[in-house]
Amino acid sequence: MSSTVMQSPVSDAVDELIADEEQVFLRRQPRSTELIGLASEHLAGGATSNWQIAQPQAVWMSHGAGSKVYDVDGTEYVDMHGGYGASIAGHAHPAIVAAVSNQVRRGTHFAQPTEDAIWIAGELARRFGLPLWRFANSGTEATMDAVHLARALTGRDLIIKVEGCYHGHHDSVQVSVLPDADEVGPRDHPNGVPGNSGIPAAIRDLVIVVPFNDASAVARALAEHRGQIAAMILEPVMMNAGIITPDDGYLAVIRDLVHKEGALLIFDEVKTGFTTGPGGVTAISGVVPDMVCLAKALGGGISVAAIGGTTEVMSAIADGRYEQVGTFNGNPLAMASTRATLSEVLTPDAYRQLRGLATHLRSSLESVIAEHGYQWHVVSVGAKGCVTFRGDRVREFRDFLDIDARLGHLHWLVQHNGGVFLPPWGKVEQWLLSVQHDRDDVDRFVANFTRFAASVAN
Ligand SMILES: Cc1ncc(COP(=O)(O)O)c(C=O)c1O
Repeated sequence: MSSTVMQSPVSDAVDELIADEEQVFLRRQPRSTELIGLASEHLAGGATSNWQIAQPQAVWMSHGAGSKVYDVDGTEYVDMHGGYGASIAGHAHPAIVAAVSNQVRRGTHFAQPTEDAIWIAGELARRFGLPLWRFANSGTEATMDAVHLARALTGRDLIIKVEGCYHGHHDSVQVSVLPDADEVGPRDHPNGVPGNSGIPAAIRDLVIVVPFNDASAVARALAEHRGQIAAMILEPVMMNAGIITPDDGYLAVIRDLVHKEGALLIFDEVKTGFTTGPGGVTAISGVVPDMVCLAKALGGGISVAAIGGTTEVMSAIADGRYEQVGTFNGNPLAMASTRATLSEVLTPDAYRQLRGLATHLRSSLESVIAEHGYQWHVVSVGAKGCVTFRGDRVREFRDFLDIDARLGHLHWLVQHNGGVFLPPWGKVEQWLLSVQHDRDDVDRFVANFTRFAASVAN
């Protein structure tokens, strides 16, 4: 985990550049425009998730192959969107195609366990250092179970949550996800800002918000609510506000603080789980929490999630104190795909190759930034990375709020129009490299970035 810092100004014409690139974007996608019109009749908002609706319009997809995706207008993109961090296997990876095809022929749903689940649980235990696992279907379900488990085990209702972390769309964690600067309140007692409509105030009030990378804020929250905190949940590397890495020692200190007060520590590794390394930030940091939540890349493109925990935590499931349930939990199709992902895709060789590509990408981008003398820097962790449009390292969400969001959006548009698909919401999201990307893919990204950097120069 590392970042470097550079300097110098950008032009005032960013708004005009955005308007021009949006026009190019729309001209390249007439079929998407048409489908949005058709979809709006019976699909609310004309898409299948609000996060698919980027500006100026949602991109409708046709198919994917290897490191590329193709939109409905037939345009090819290097896929560094990665389905919001899930597609580390790339598209139609032969091992996953074989595993899924085989399982489709043998039945896709029984609501009873299949043998693959045993192998996967063992492999996750080995990678993350937690002995017991259960499965679910989305990151939201995994963090929901983790919070429930913490409350069930401790008999306490409050949770500590980090400002700017996203943990899915269930009530308990939809607080201070991406609040505006005028909503956040004082830093030593941040406001709990609802992250969506429909979140009851009574649930919001069960969440104590703290800044990232500030162990003393955690100590204070625990002291102010002594005996009431069930758990602290966080992304151990924040990945829903660009990328914010933990200070050395931060994760170990907060683990000790919460344990001292009889509370539990939950790492939400839904995004970081396999993208930062084979055993996520848990393995990289050596700090094993009481629970780890996984999803996204775990299933190699099929919907699956997992919750791992200590023997003590998971005993609540084993003895029935907490009912961890779901019709599709451990679904055989998801299990087949997950097993193939862990055994044949996310191998030590694959991680070596990903590291090589990430290093090449990072140093190429740093050269472009240095050439212009911009106050930007590159942050990369494993297969994930982003350019942060600010000179100083971002240590917490409030630093991130200072970043000019227009640059992230313009960068996204320039990459898109240049044949590289990144996640929309420029400054919030990151790229993802897959095991099927190669140097040419990464060089296309760098060429677009070079054009972007030149376009915003004074
Ligand atoms: C860190 C983190 N946790 C949880 C979730 C929720 O996952 P899902 O969208 O699969 O419910 C996300 C989704 O982006 C995430 O980034």
